[in-house]
Amino acid sequence: MLVLDGKIASHAIKESLKTQVASIVQSGKRAPHLAAILVGNNGASETYVASKVKNCAEIGFESTLIRLEANVTEAVLLATIEELNNNDLIDGILVQLPLPKHISEQKVIEAINPHKDVDGFHPTSAGKLVQGLPTFIPATPYGIVLMLEHFNITTKGKHAVIIGRSNIVGRPMSILLSSNSPFGNCTVTICHSHTPNLKDICLQGDILVAALGRPEFVTADMVKDGAVVIDVGITRVEDASAKKGFRIKGDVAYNEVALKASAITPVPGGVGLMTIAGLLKNTLQAYLSNE
Ligand code: GUN
Repeated sequence: MLVLDGKIASHAIKESLKTQVASIVQSGKRAPHLAAILVGNNGASETYVASKVKNCAEIGFESTLIRLEANVTEAVLLATIEELNNNDLIDGILVQLPLPKHISEQKVIEAINPHKDVDGFHPTSAGKLVQGLPTFIPATPYGIVLMLEHFNITTKGKHAVIIGRSNIVGRPMSILLSSNSPFGNCTVTICHSHTPNLKDICLQGDILVAALGRPEFVTADMVKDGAVVIDVGITRVEDASAKKGFRIKGDVAYNEVALKASAITPVPGGVGLMTIAGLLKNTLQAYLSNE
């Protein structure tokens, strides 16, 4: 059984990005610049954004973190995005989700200039992805593909079963795995909360992607022998014995599923790190195409 170690795969990608940025800067040009907007103080979002900013610094990107209060108006957030859209020194913009209930996430996503849409959530980016055109691929599915590539896991002809149909993970993942590309050519089934016989369908998956956000939902009896199991879940579960008062749990019951899988991503240390690698690659792409 192969552990798909996100530390190893993301390190390799970051080293390559670091070299590319160093040569850009050496040639006298500015470094790529990512702007991240964080609204409120959701603990998990704080951690993710801090990690994105830290990773930018590690590879030589500039980054700007804009923090807005939880009660900021939608109009102020949209105006902040517009300023970043108009700033030629900013290459990529991301607004960390989820947003407070009084703000329309869709409006916010659509306010970002598609040329700076490094999360790949804008309908223009999503539409291009569906049509197989070059675009920003949402960071998590992109990171998963990069992970498969790093560990030489082939996808052609395999049956991929995806649990979860979100615009951030499940749906774009299904597009990528079914696309006519080196990391596609799968037969894809998307499962969701209304799927009957979920277990039977999961058992058919040569590749099983769990992206539903329910800790340890996927158990060994749902997994085909020799399957490649990709765990996208990152849920904080209260645990008084842990230093921070919680533990991070994936969507897969790792210990029992690892005994059946041919390859599996750990949580933490798996897909989460690859999401950042995907975001960094998108930011460099934005920089290069906006030059
Ligand atoms: N919330 C959960 N995942 C993501 C992501 O990939 N990007 C943003 N902006 N917010 C998220």
